Amino acid sequence: MERKILLNNIAVPGIRTFEVFRSTGGYLSVEKALKEMTPDEVVEEVKMSGLRGRGGAGFPAGMKWSFIDKKSGNPRYLICNADESEPGTFKDRYLMEKIPHLLIEGMICSCYALGANTGYIYVRGEYKYIIGILNEALRETYAAGFLGTNILGTGYNLDIIVHSGAGAYICGEETALIESLEGKRGNPRIKPPFPAVVGLYGCPTVVNNVETLANIGYIVNNGGNEYAQYGVGKSTGTKLISACGNINHPGVYEIEFGLTVREFLFDEKYCGGIKDGRKLKAVIAGGSSVPILPGELILKTAAGEERLMTYESLAEGGFVSGTMLGSGGFIVFDEDACIVRNTWNLARFYHHESCGQCSPCREGTGWMESVLHRIENGQGRSKDIDLLVSIASKIEGNTICPLGDAAAWPIASAIRHFRHEFEEHIQNPEQCSLHRMEEFENLKI
Ligand SMILES: Cc1cc2nc3c(=O)[nH]c(=O)nc-3n(C[C@H](O)[C@H](O)[C@H](O)COP(=O)(O)O)c2cc1C
Repeated sequence: MERKILLNNIAVPGIRTFEVFRSTGGYLSVEKALKEMTPDEVVEEVKMSGLRGRGGAGFPAGMKWSFIDKKSGNPRYLICNADESEPGTFKDRYLMEKIPHLLIEGMICSCYALGANTGYIYVRGEYKYIIGILNEALRETYAAGFLGTNILGTGYNLDIIVHSGAGAYICGEETALIESLEGKRGNPRIKPPFPAVVGLYGCPTVVNNVETLANIGYIVNNGGNEYAQYGVGKSTGTKLISACGNINHPGVYEIEFGLTVREFLFDEKYCGGIKDGRKLKAVIAGGSSVPILPGELILKTAAGEERLMTYESLAEGGFVSGTMLGSGGFIVFDEDACIVRNTWNLARFYHHESCGQCSPCREGTGWMESVLHRIENGQGRSKDIDLLVSIASKIEGNTICPLGDAAAWPIASAIRHFRHEFEEHIQNPEQCSLHRMEEFENLKI
């Protein structure tokens, strides 16, 4: 059976408005939480649900909430991470655009659980139109008495403020986001201390992804145990997957954890197979920061088992033959896609987006881009492939934030699985690279 938690009402006309959202049962969870539950009881339900953060790392949300420092007496904050700049990931945009009240409802319950009186939504700067949608939804929510002072007569006060990012991918990293929200350059902080202890303005702070927070209303309404029945093992509930690339039906899908990758890629209900009847070559399953896998390994593990859409199954085989679910951004490549060109393109992105604070990332991403550029441009040398592996290995694990890993993994994995393509580019450049480079250089990006 196809189960949905987030997108059930997505097609209801006018669902973006408070009135229609409310008529579908919206904000019942806020009434329940504020009137019938203590904050700790809400945290307990979220823990029981097994909900894992949907921003990429999959850290259990309830556990993160329980780390928040309640002793300091300082104000506590909830920040919704709506920076969504990971290539291939566009599910948060979809949620905020289509059903913004789901996020606001979840944030009110979450702020109540954390004892926060101020929540922020940090929105990717390029999502300008989303900022308008969110502000309109907030205006309606204040007018209905679900935000502001003395919400529903319970004595609980809460303000939610929308803040625009300014176009930097690094500001999606939670501590860089906090710096940026404080009005500073978005450089990641060294952890510990973690934001739950020293976060925004030095106060206890929880940062959660849009999709994570959008699940909270359902958990409060139905209980953590009910939520935990969805999915498989430690991958509970459903997941939004944004699918793009050479597939027949690109888009955002809500899947229950446990669906096979094969069904997701080939069933008409989801991606609908590879475009123009071509063969599947490779998939990046979790947004651009996770290892790429060849078609046969994304469909089946090295042990020959069908790969499932779960955190665990996608990671099966470690980095030798597995990958990560990450943010759930599926980028699909068909048999004609050039892995070298795509890897260079990703390297260019990470070089551009490195904040420059840590030398391995600042220098290494630049070197990787240059070396890949010369391979793609027909001037590669045979030792370049091992040089790339070596640079990637020196970035990985040696930076303050995981952007370094995110830059290294796609390149190391592309070489691990498609070394022959890099060799071909170096030995026989006319076959592939030269004309493609011209195409790229004509694109003014
Ligand atoms: C370079 C970089 C970019 C990130 N971008 C995002 C993002 O756009 N949205 C997001 O939710 N998490 C992003 N993250 C992960 C956040 O640091 C953080 O783990 C997440 O917001 C926590 O929310 P969750 O526990 O609900 O997943 C990024 C991490 C890194 C290293």
